[in-house]
Amino acid sequence: MSYLALGLDRLADFGSSLCVLNPTGGRGVVHTFGRQALPMVWDYAESNPFLKKGAGWPTACEKNEKWINHASSFSEVPPTITQSSASSLPYSDNFFEAVFTDPPYYNNVPYADLSDFFYVWLKRTVGNLYPELFSTPLTPKTNEVAEMAGWDKERYSYKDKTFFENNLKKSFQEIHRVLKPDGIAVIVYAHKSTEGWETMINSLLDSGLIMTGAWPLSTEMAGRLRANESAALASSIYIVARKMKRLPTGFYNAVGEELKQHLNKKLERLWSEGIGGADFFIAAIGSAIEVFGKYEKVINFEGAIVRADRLLEDVGKIATDYAVRKILHNGFSGEISDLTRFYVLYRWDYGEAKVQFDEANRLARSCRIELAREWNRSGFIKKEKEFIRLLGPQDRKSEDIKDSSELIDVLHRVLLCWEKSKRDEMLELLKESGFGKSEAFYRVAQAISEILPNESKEKKLLDGFLAGRERLREEITKESSMPKQKKLL
Ligand SMILES: C[S@@+](CC[C@H](N)C(=O)[O-])C[C@H]1O[C@@H](n2cnc3c(N)ncnc32)[C@H](O)[C@@H]1O
Repeated sequence: MSYLALGLDRLADFGSSLCVLNPTGGRGVVHTFGRQALPMVWDYAESNPFLKKGAGWPTACEKNEKWINHASSFSEVPPTITQSSASSLPYSDNFFEAVFTDPPYYNNVPYADLSDFFYVWLKRTVGNLYPELFSTPLTPKTNEVAEMAGWDKERYSYKDKTFFENNLKKSFQEIHRVLKPDGIAVIVYAHKSTEGWETMINSLLDSGLIMTGAWPLSTEMAGRLRANESAALASSIYIVARKMKRLPTGFYNAVGEELKQHLNKKLERLWSEGIGGADFFIAAIGSAIEVFGKYEKVINFEGAIVRADRLLEDVGKIATDYAVRKILHNGFSGEISDLTRFYVLYRWDYGEAKVQFDEANRLARSCRIELAREWNRSGFIKKEKEFIRLLGPQDRKSEDIKDSSELIDVLHRVLLCWEKSKRDEMLELLKESGFGKSEAFYRVAQAISEILPNESKEKKLLDGFLAGRERLREEITKESSMPKQKKLL
């Protein structure tokens, strides 16, 4: 009966007024939870529950059978499944050899609210079989660990950053308690924002668990990535933790040095594995925890405890330096300005997407610039409400940037000239600015082009310009080596 009830849930998923027609795939209707949200739709499509294929009842049963077979293939011994809150586990101390957990990622998904969609059907169909699980009209939400204040300030005013940090800490402390002394815990985590990581790291540091390893694993299906609009992550970090004794106090200057060395080695490995963009920075944070988490506490020379915010700032700087060196194929990162560095990294990290101010500012700070100061001054940083977007050449006007000697501004002007076939003006600009003969200038242009997707307008402009760069350079060098014509008296 329970399995049949899951089949009915599937029908509900394909039969709600939030289902739309699938314009591309073979299936007729897109199910309600195409992503973890209840979206607004303009219109809906009704599916036929008796259909033999797709959204119908027979498929729901077939799918269920497939999943049951799959899940049963791992062990002869049936598992015991219990339900309780992670922050107070009904097990004695030192009970488990291993704990594997996938906690909520800060405020990514409002799970409890979304699960009401299925809960109401399950309560009607099998509620009597599990009275203790379906005792309330809707799912219980008070103990759900998630930062929910950002979703709904009125209902969830108490579920802020501190609530999340405290409850995650309690859950990690529970893992520490129920784990055998030589046991192992694996914690999965993925979040784009610094806040999301800060709270998670602080909770882990306070739990008594020691993080011994952290690796990114690709966990997202390509179709789920909306990289162009929202710089989505493709991987989650798998953090391995143990119940060992911690080293006593670490001094920040020594730990910082250890961090630098450890991180540079780890970054080399991540880079060679092809981890890029937002995932690279997140994986770097994971690696940094391996060093930081070894100590009971880390203090500076004045005795103040150093927490995750400082760690994240340092990691940002180390990872940024490393990435810029690699993106520019070594050797030129010292020659480019902080603003250019920021531009290149932003494109690498987020492409052409707009990002939350805090996020962009984290990157900016690691490039030693303050966004709040720059968006008024620099032409290419644009603030749009709580978001930041970097303008490409196609979004700018030549006359607005004509007085700037910043590499990116000159590059954008050059690209605008190229687009309008103003070759003489482009040559003049390259000569006057001195960038025409600078290898770093072309490297930056090349790097941005390599980062951007094929359909990007900026990439097309860059590729067009770069295709003729050898001739341009020859012309610039030839002209500058020719003696200047003297004026006739
Ligand atoms: C990242 S999801 C895990 C998804 C799961 N790995 C899967 O593939 O379906 C985090 C889960 O933690 C649950 N959760 C939130 N607060 C909890 C608590 N206090 N105790 C137990 N689980 C909780 C959420 O309901 C959500 O299902």
